[in-house]
Amino acid sequence: MNELTHVRAKEIIARYPVARSALLPMLHLVQAEEGFVSQAGIAFCAEQLELTTAEVSAVATFYTMYKRTPCGEHLVSVCTNTLCAALGGDDIYARLSERLGVGHEETVGEPGTTGSLTLEHAECLAACDLAPVIQVNYEYYDNQTVDSAVELVDALRRGEKPPPTRGAPLTDLRTVELELAGFTEDEVVAAAAVAGPSAAPETLRGNTIAAERGWAAPALPGEHPALPPLQEKK
Ligand code: FES
Repeated sequence: MNELTHVRAKEIIARYPVARSALLPMLHLVQAEEGFVSQAGIAFCAEQLELTTAEVSAVATFYTMYKRTPCGEHLVSVCTNTLCAALGGDDIYARLSERLGVGHEETVGEPGTTGSLTLEHAECLAACDLAPVIQVNYEYYDNQTVDSAVELVDALRRGEKPPPTRGAPLTDLRTVELELAGFTEDEVVAAAAVAGPSAAPETLRGNTIAAERGWAAPALPGEHPALPPLQEKK
């Protein structure tokens, strides 16, 4: 690991009362440097956190966000869980796999170079009301079709960064891994991420209807009266 990663590792560890509690962000940190969690990355985490490599491996192989082979500039996650699958997610995944010539957790292009993509099918991405959804580096592209998904990956392959439907502007996987470890290098991107729309109108529809009709959840006995429902952003 490079010198900066050593410095950042110390910063991460200092956030926790016990070093081993820092393992999850540490794994994101090594993934930010290498584009995946290598054996060297596992050994680095173990040494820094006074764990065994077996303990670190057990965690790194449990969570799907930690990749064991080098990833592309972008990670394209296609939700193929029940609702997305029924509304076209399976067709989208099959078409993208054919278009890119890769399968689950496989990469097209030289890993890490501009336009390289790693494809994966994902479990529910917590946006079922906007199905079928795709994430690129964990940013949402809602209400996809086979055609819009092909347009999206074609643009990514050309080195473009189409804006997500909501959330932060698209960067690249290594930048996002660094953010997940708790570091932001680009203040402009960070500010844009905070300012970006975080919720879709579909998600707030129930709140909107409740607000229009003056509905509120009844307070439980002994509790303060319920807050009025959130208003949909105009
Ligand atoms: S099933 Fe795809 S987001 Fe929930």
